[in-house]
Amino acid sequence: MFLTIEIEVTIMKKKVLPASLNAINRRAFVKSSAAVVGGLVASQLPFSSASAYYGVDDTIRIGLIGCGGRGTGAALQALSARQNVKLVAMADAFRDRLDESYKNITDPEQTEGSGGAGNVVDRVQVPEEHKFVGFDAYKQVIPLVDVVVIATPPGFRPYHFEAAIAADKHVFMEKPVATDPNGIRRVLETAKIAKQKKLNVVVGLQRHYQTVYRDWVSRIHDGAIGDVILSRVYWNSAGVWVRDRATLEKDAGRKLTEMEYQMRNWYYFNWLCGDHIVEQHIHNLDVGNWVKQGHPVRAQGQGGREVRNGKDHGEIFDHHMVEYEYADGSRMLSQCRHIPDCMNRVTEAFHGTKGTAPAPGELLDLAGNTIAKHRDKDDPNPYQVEHDELFAAVTAGEYKYADAENGAIATMTAILGRMATYSGQVVEWDDALKSTMSIMPQTFAWDANPPVMPKADGYYPVPMPGVTKVV
Ligand SMILES: NC(=O)c1ccc[n+]([C@@H]2O[C@H](COP(=O)([O-])OP(=O)(O)OC[C@H]3O[C@@H](n4cnc5c(N)ncnc54)[C@H](O)[C@@H]3O)[C@@H](O)[C@H]2O)c1
Repeated sequence: MFLTIEIEVTIMKKKVLPASLNAINRRAFVKSSAAVVGGLVASQLPFSSASAYYGVDDTIRIGLIGCGGRGTGAALQALSARQNVKLVAMADAFRDRLDESYKNITDPEQTEGSGGAGNVVDRVQVPEEHKFVGFDAYKQVIPLVDVVVIATPPGFRPYHFEAAIAADKHVFMEKPVATDPNGIRRVLETAKIAKQKKLNVVVGLQRHYQTVYRDWVSRIHDGAIGDVILSRVYWNSAGVWVRDRATLEKDAGRKLTEMEYQMRNWYYFNWLCGDHIVEQHIHNLDVGNWVKQGHPVRAQGQGGREVRNGKDHGEIFDHHMVEYEYADGSRMLSQCRHIPDCMNRVTEAFHGTKGTAPAPGELLDLAGNTIAKHRDKDDPNPYQVEHDELFAAVTAGEYKYADAENGAIATMTAILGRMATYSGQVVEWDDALKSTMSIMPQTFAWDANPPVMPKADGYYPVPMPGVTKVV
C-alpha cells in the first residue's frame, strides 16, 4: 500500500519541473507547434491557436473571476504552481472585494505553495485598467488571459464557464458548478465543447487531487472490500458566515438594493448558493459517486430549518438527510447539518460484501482486521496539487483534465437531494435533470429584483415539504 502511495507522490512531484526545464520544454513545444500552425486548423492543434500565449513566450497569463476567500487562495496557488504563471486581470462584482483580494495577493508574506515557484508577488501584474467590476466584469477578463480561475458563488458558474470555453481558455473552476438543472445542462454542453477543443478543465473537488482519496478509492475499485452495498456521507458542522443587512448597510452608509444585499449574503439564497447541501456537502456526495462510478437514480429525504431561521438566513435549510439509490439498488445515506453544538462529522464511509472502508484511507476485512491504513501526514496539499497538475499540463501543451462533467454530475447529485428534502417526495434523477424550473434571475442588475424577495415582515419564503414543487 505505502509503495503505491510513494510512487504516486513521486510522479506528482516530477510533474512540477524545475523552472529551467519548464522553459526548455515550453520553448520546444511552442517552436514545434509554431512550425506547423499555418498548415493546421485550430481543432487539430493540442490547444487552440486563439490562446494568446501560444507561440509568443512561456508566460501563462491567468485571470481571476470572483475575488473572495477561495478565489484569492486559488490565485496564489496558481502562481505558486510554476514560475511562468502571471496574474494579469481580476474581476469581481464589488470593487471592495477586488481591492481586498489584490492587497492579500500582493502581500509579500504570501508565499503559499509547493511548486518552489519563487517570488509570487513579482508575478502579480494587474494594472488598474485590468481590474473589472460588476456583473459583466468576467467578459473583460477572459480575452486577456490563457487560464481563467473562476471562484464566484456557484449560480454564475455556467455563464462564466461557457464564456471561457467559447473563448478557448483553459479553466480552473470551483465547485459547485451550478445551482439548478438548467445550469447543469449548460455545464454538460460546455464540457463537451471543452473536450472537443482539448481545453484542460480542473474543478475544485480537491479530494480527486488528494493522495489519501486517490489511493483509497482506487483500492475500493480494485475490489478490496468487494461490491459496495452501502455508502454513508456526512457534512455536519456548526455552519458558516452570515453577512447581515444592518451591518452591510452601516458599512455602505446607505440602504442596499435587494440584489446588492443577496449578492453580499449569497450563502442564504438558492439561486446563488444552492443551499449548503449543494455548496458544501457536494464534496462528500462526489466521493460517494466516485466510489460507485456512477450517480444515483433517485432520492428521498427530509430537512428543514430548526436554528438558523432569522431574516438574514434567507431561504435555505439548516439540515438535510437524504437516502440516495443507485442503479444497482445500493444506497447512499447522506447527512448535512449547519447547527452549532451538535456532533460534527465531515467524512465518508463504505460497506462492501468483503469488508468496510470506515474512513478515508482505512480498509478493514469483515472480521475487522486492517487491510490498509494510509497516514496522510506528509501528503501534499490537494488545493496546491490541483493547480500544480493543471499548470504542468498547460505548460507542457498537454490535454489531461476534463473535470467539468464530473463536477456537473456531483453538483446534480446534491441538487437532487435538495429537491427531495424541499418537496418531501421521491425525485427521479432523469426527471430532475430535465426540469426547466429555473431559479436564476432573468436580469443581472443592481436594481433588478432577485427571484426570491422578502415578505412584508422581512422574512423570506422557505421551502415546505409536501407543498413545494421542484420538478
Ligand atoms: N474547494 C473548496 O474546498 C472550497 C472552499 C471554499 C469555497 N469554495 C467555493 O468557492 C466559491 C467562492 O467561495 P468563497 O468562499 O470564496 O466566497 P466569497 O464570498 O469569499 O467570494 C466570492 C466572490 O465572488 C464575487 N462575485 C459574486 N458574484 C460575482 C460575479 N457575477 N462576477 C464576479 N465576481 C462575483 C463576490 O463579490 C466575492 O468577492 C464557491 O463556489 C465555494 O463553494 C470551495
